[in-house]
Amino acid sequence: MDKSIIDIHHASYSYPSGTLALDGINLSLPKGKKIALLGGNGAGKSTLMLLLNGVLVPTSGHLSFDDTKYNYKKSKLRELRSKVGLLFSDPDNQLIAPTVYEEISFGLNNLLRDKQRVRAKVEDTLDAFCLHDIQRKTPHDLSAGQKKRVCLASILAMEPEVIICDEPSSSLDPWHTNLTFNYLDSLQEKGKTILISTHDVNLAYSWADHTIILKKGKVLISGASKDVFSKKDIIEEAGLNLPFIIDACNAFIPELKANELPANMDEFKKLLKSTLCTDF
Ligand SMILES: Nc1ncnc2c1ncn2[C@@H]1O[C@H](COP(=O)(O)OP(=O)(O)O)[C@@H](O)[C@H]1O
Ligand SMILES: [Mg+2]
Repeated sequence: MDKSIIDIHHASYSYPSGTLALDGINLSLPKGKKIALLGGNGAGKSTLMLLLNGVLVPTSGHLSFDDTKYNYKKSKLRELRSKVGLLFSDPDNQLIAPTVYEEISFGLNNLLRDKQRVRAKVEDTLDAFCLHDIQRKTPHDLSAGQKKRVCLASILAMEPEVIICDEPSSSLDPWHTNLTFNYLDSLQEKGKTILISTHDVNLAYSWADHTIILKKGKVLISGASKDVFSKKDIIEEAGLNLPFIIDACNAFIPELKANELPANMDEFKKLLKSTLCTDF
């Protein structure tokens, strides 16, 4: 069993309007893993992420970080948020500073409290996210994709223990999506836990170690990505498509057992090559 970093104990959340967005959720986020959160529109993904970062307090049930129950006092919340960083799905909910440079240095100033270290970290971050050209611009004047990169950069610069990104690749072009995921991978290699919500089953299958699927505020399944995606009936119940790799293997190499399925495109290409070479 993997050690968990955040545990959710029978948590529910109702919005003031009365909508029950999360209904008795029990979940554990495995420490140091890449985790994908899937589910249709309105399944509760964003609400769950707001609970994880302490923006919302569960109506019933509770959460714990490293076995310590969430405490919603102001000072404790600040501490929690330095450990659990959240990228909102809408960057306009996040951007607060007058320039991109200040947006990235804002959190770092509180965290590092040393001007030289802050400056060095901001420079590294501007480099990593290719933001040098727009560092003096006002975040609100940027394109949707640029705003998203600024928000991501300002959160990832602080290297929180748990990094939560609500639809990180929406509005990003493929080049910046790769850049972002390479950066997320480098943080996971340093031991960070990463949770992203996405509608992209191919990304979830080949990128994530662990996949969670929500439906109507409940957890349909949570487990190793390979196991989750081998359950065709649950994927259908969630209204999702099978990842391309599994679909293609089912169609062309039906004799393949679930534990022999390729984990990513490189493995899939190798398998295809060896299968074609044997058959012809
Ligand atoms: N601010 C809000 N006020 C009232 N209801 C909301 C609010 N945000 C989301 N909801 C409702 O909560 C449910 C879950 O929404 P959400 O967590 O945004 O789902 P997802 O991110 O999976 O699309 C939906 O029924 C949605 O309409
Ligand atoms: Mg959402």
